[in-house]
Amino acid sequence: MPGHDTSQLQGRGAARTAVVWDALQEVLASTSSDARTPASVVDIGGGTGGFAVRVAELGHQVTVIDPSPDALAILARRAEENGVAGRVTAHQGDVASVAELVPAGSADVVLFHGVLEIVDDPADALAALAGVLRPGGVLSLLVNQRHAAVVARAMAGHFQQARTLLDGAAPEDHHPRRFTADEVATMLDRAGFESTAMHAVRVFVDLVPSSLVDHEPGAAAALVELERAVADRPEYLPLGTQLHVLARRR
Ligand SMILES: C[S@@+](CC[C@H](N)C(=O)[O-])C[C@H]1O[C@@H](n2cnc3c(N)ncnc32)[C@H](O)[C@@H]1O
Repeated sequence: MPGHDTSQLQGRGAARTAVVWDALQEVLASTSSDARTPASVVDIGGGTGGFAVRVAELGHQVTVIDPSPDALAILARRAEENGVAGRVTAHQGDVASVAELVPAGSADVVLFHGVLEIVDDPADALAALAGVLRPGGVLSLLVNQRHAAVVARAMAGHFQQARTLLDGAAPEDHHPRRFTADEVATMLDRAGFESTAMHAVRVFVDLVPSSLVDHEPGAAAALVELERAVADRPEYLPLGTQLHVLARRR
C-alpha cells in the first residue's frame, strides 16, 4: 500500500504531512495509466518544494508556480540536491497567471496547498485551477480549517478572537482566511469540481508539546499513526488544523 513513507520527514514534520502525502501518493498511483507513465503535476504556490520534490522523486513531472523568487531558489537547490532537477520546472508567477504558464486542460494533478487562504479571490483561484486540469484530473487542496482555530484561540486565552473566528471572519479581518468543510465543498462544486475525499490534517500534532514528540522514543511514529487513524473519520474533520480535499474536475 502506498503512502506510508515518512523517511524524508521526521517528528512533527512527518505528523503534519503524513495524511496529505498518503492521499497524494494514492492519487498519483491511480492517475498514471501505468506505473511507467509519469503524471503531469502542477504545484501552485509550491514554495520551497516540500511536496514538489517528493512528487518528482516518484518519477512525475512537476511544474511549480510561485511568486517568491527566494522560495524558487530554495526549490531549485532542493531539486538539484535530490537528483530531480530534470523533472521540476519552476515559474515565477501566481495563480492569476497560471493560464499563461501552463497549457489549458493539460495537468493530471494540481496541488494548491496553503494558498487559498491568502489569494485575492478564492472563487477566481479555483476557476483558474479547473482551467489547467484535464477533465477527470484531480485537485489536491489543503486549507486552514476554522473550527480548530477557534479552539486553539480559546485555549490560548484569546476569547474575543475565538468568538470572531467562530462567526467566520478572520481575527483582525485580514488574511489568512479559514474555511469550514461545508464552505470548501460549496466553493469546489461551484468551480466545477466533485469532491471525492476530505481528510482532517494535524488533529493532534499542534496541541502536543514538541519536547514530548521529538524526544520521547517512539512518540513521533505513534503520533503519525494516530493522525492517520483519525484522518478519515468525519467526527474529527472539525478538529484538524487543516482540511485536505481531493476533488475531481468534472
Ligand atoms: C503557506 S505557503 C505554502 C507553500 C507550499 N504549498 C506548502 O504547502 O508547503 C504559501 C505559498 O503561496 C505562495 N503564494 C502567495 N500568494 C500566491 C498567489 N496569489 N498565487 C500563488 N501562490 C501564492 C507564497 O509565495 C508561498 O510560497
